[in-house]
Formats: sequence, structure tokens, C-alpha cells
Amino acid sequence: MAKVLVVGAGGREHAIAYKFNQEGHEVYMVGINPAVEKFGTCVDIKEDDIPNYALENNIDLVFVGPEVPLVNGLIDKLQEKGIRAFGPSKKAAQLEGSKVFSKMMMEKYNIPTAKHESFSDYEKASEYLSQQKAPIVLKADGLAAGKGVIIAETLEEAQHELKEMMCNSKFAAAGANVVIEEFLSGEEFSLMCFVSDRKVYPMEIAQDHKRAFDNDEGLNTGGMGAYCPLKKITQDDINEGVVKVVQPMVDAMSSEGMPFYGILYAGLMKCADGVKTIEFNVRFGDPESEILLLKLESSLYEIANNVIDGKDVELKWNKDAFIGVVMAAKGYPEKSEKGGVINGLEKLTTPVFHMGTKQVDGNIVINGGRVLLVCASGENLQAAREKVYNEIGKIGCDDLFFRKDIGHHSLILCK
Ligand code: AMP
Ligand code: GLY
Repeated sequence: MAKVLVVGAGGREHAIAYKFNQEGHEVYMVGINPAVEKFGTCVDIKEDDIPNYALENNIDLVFVGPEVPLVNGLIDKLQEKGIRAFGPSKKAAQLEGSKVFSKMMMEKYNIPTAKHESFSDYEKASEYLSQQKAPIVLKADGLAAGKGVIIAETLEEAQHELKEMMCNSKFAAAGANVVIEEFLSGEEFSLMCFVSDRKVYPMEIAQDHKRAFDNDEGLNTGGMGAYCPLKKITQDDINEGVVKVVQPMVDAMSSEGMPFYGILYAGLMKCADGVKTIEFNVRFGDPESEILLLKLESSLYEIANNVIDGKDVELKWNKDAFIGVVMAAKGYPEKSEKGGVINGLEKLTTPVFHMGTKQVDGNIVINGGRVLLVCASGENLQAAREKVYNEIGKIGCDDLFFRKDIGHHSLILCK
């Protein structure tokens, strides 16, 4: 039994902690997650204090969940102190930390992606935009919790949003530089790979649902639900993603002197003319990883250690279909209220991961935009879906909403 410290306290980190706990390890967490507190030790410490905390508590492995500490260089700081830490270095994490950097790398190494231009000057960006066709995509350069992407249906809307980002600080400093790119249509999928010493180990693929409401309507969110397997994506598409996108980027990062270790997440679109890159992330996706961690039969502890040591990784998966549906606070992703009491959690018979909750006077209350991820599995997607929505029906809280169509892209084909 090892001591594992998970950094981050959302749904993804709950799932990571749950997996380590199931593998028999002693779990610590930076951040307070009321569900993890039932089996692990949660501490509310600052990012800068993590290395000392890990040393004082003889932690065997630190597993960093979210992008912000990775982009801030937490892995480098831990490794400098001799602490075993899973995740990419600060330099390698730029692939997610800066969309301008990531686009520059894709361009330099011929990795397929949408046609784009990057701008730091508003006048130039606006001039370029006026010559494009709608729909068009605007992306804030920096981190914006999955919300820094605007898909504008008209050029007027795009001009308005551009001004908001570059002149009126929408998304704060993250929007000072902006990427303007062609709108791609096709089927999206998340291809996450463990990367160890330039070798790429693809996980099973999953699909997230980025828009807030049913039928893919509403604003982009951090993700409203995920499932696996996908019907519209073939093994050839996955191979194309590995061969044309992930492996070339891993090789490129090594050539540039910033070798990548950890999880490289390629957000891909299967377009009429091939698979193209929407974005790179440098960590487990949220909510994709929650369902994939339930599906993963191999030891996450062993995988993480093998990646750190540059050794080979072996992945074994459960054959069932898995689904996770986010219950979000009403008003998310714009303004949402905290504090509403969530009843009925004790009635659930399937795993539920806490994304943004808090314990107050013995009650679990809303404490974030995305609040819970209710998960289920079944022998096929239809069965898993029926089960998950049945479980959701047991939760009583008027302040939450959820999408009723998670998995619909793959179910249409099943009928
Ligand atoms: P990103 O943060 O770059 O993953 O963008 C968030 C979401 O916006 C993606 O998951 C897509 O659904 C959508 N998106 C981003 N870029 C494009 C694009 N060029 N064309 C169409 N949709 C896009
Ligand atoms: N589910 C999308 C992300 O983790 O960025």
C-alpha cells in the first residue's frame, strides 16, 4: 500500500482518488471534496506548500489532476525535491496553457488542425475577422476553464465577442491574445493517451458534450457528460489520431527540448477530409476521465509510476459501456447560485463523483457550476443510459439541471 496525494478536488480528482482507494492505496487530497473525505485525508493548502506537505507525509506519488498547477510548474517543483510526481513539466504544459503556442507547434510540425491566425493586436484581429466567413471560432489564448471558446454564428457577433475579449477583459488576461479559426464540422472525440518516453499508449476514446443544453444548444461549458464507446468513430479514425496528431506532437515536444510525460489529451474532430485537432490538453479530461477510470481495469498506480520512469504501459479495459451525466447548478456556465441542499445521494447504487459540493451542517450543498457526475455502466450504451437517468431521478434538488441526451450521437445509430 502506497501513499498517494491527488492534487485538485473536483469530479476528476474524486475519480482518481476513488481508483487509488480501490487499488488499496492510502489517499490524500489537496482541496476539500466531501466524498473523498469519507475514505481519504483532504487538506486545504496552497499550491506552493504542496512539495513540503508531500515530504512531511512521506507521499510515494503525487498525481496532479487540473491544468492550472501543471501550467504553473508544480511537477518541476516536486521533482526538484525528489518527489515522484505524475504529469508534464511546466514547459510541456504550455500545449494547454497557451492556444497560440499549441497552434504554432501544430503549424510547425504539420499536425492537422483548423485554419487559423493568432493576434495580440485588436485592430489587426478585427480587420482579419472582417474578411472571414461565419460561423467562425474565437479562442482566448490562456486558460478559461473550458469556457474561452466562442462559436459565432455571424460576423457581427464575432466582432462583438472579439472586442469583449481583447478590449473589455472578458476571460481576463487569458483573452489578451486571441486565435481566430475556421469552424470545423464533424464528429468530436477525446483521445487521451499516456505518454512515456516518447511512446504513446492510447486510452479508450470517449465523447464529451460541451454545450450546456440538449441538442448541443447553449454556451460551451467544461463538459456536461461523457460516454464510451462511440459508434461513429472507427478504429481507423483512432489510429489516424494517434499517427497524425498525438505521436507527431509527442515527437515535436521532444525535438523542442520539452519532452512530454503524463497524459496528452487530443480533442479531435472527424471531418469529411480526415481527423483534425481541436485542442490539446495535458491532463485527464473532465468528465471523460471519470468514466474511463471506472472502465480501466489496470492499476493506475502502476501506470503512473511506469510513465514517470519512462517504462512501458499496459492498459486493460472493462468491455461494458459507461456513461456519466453532469448535474450542474442552474445558470451555469454563466452565473450560478451556491448553497442549495442536495437530497437523495444515499439512494444511489452507481458511482457518483462530486465535482462541486461542500458539506454544511451534515448536508451536501452546491458549491460550484458543475456539481455532480452520476455514472453508470451496462452491457450496451442504451442499458447504461437507462440506468444513469434512473439514478438521477433519485436526486432531489431544484437548483440543479442536467442534459437528457448524453450519448445521443451514438444512440441514433443504434435504433
Ligand atoms: P476547446 O477549448 O478548444 O476544446 O473548444 C471547446 C469546444 O468548442 C470544442 O470541444 C468544440 O466543441 C468547439 N470548437 C472548438 N474549436 C472549434 C472549431 N474550430 N470548429 C468547431 N467547433 C470548435
Ligand atoms: N472535457 C473537456 C476537458 O476536460 O477539457
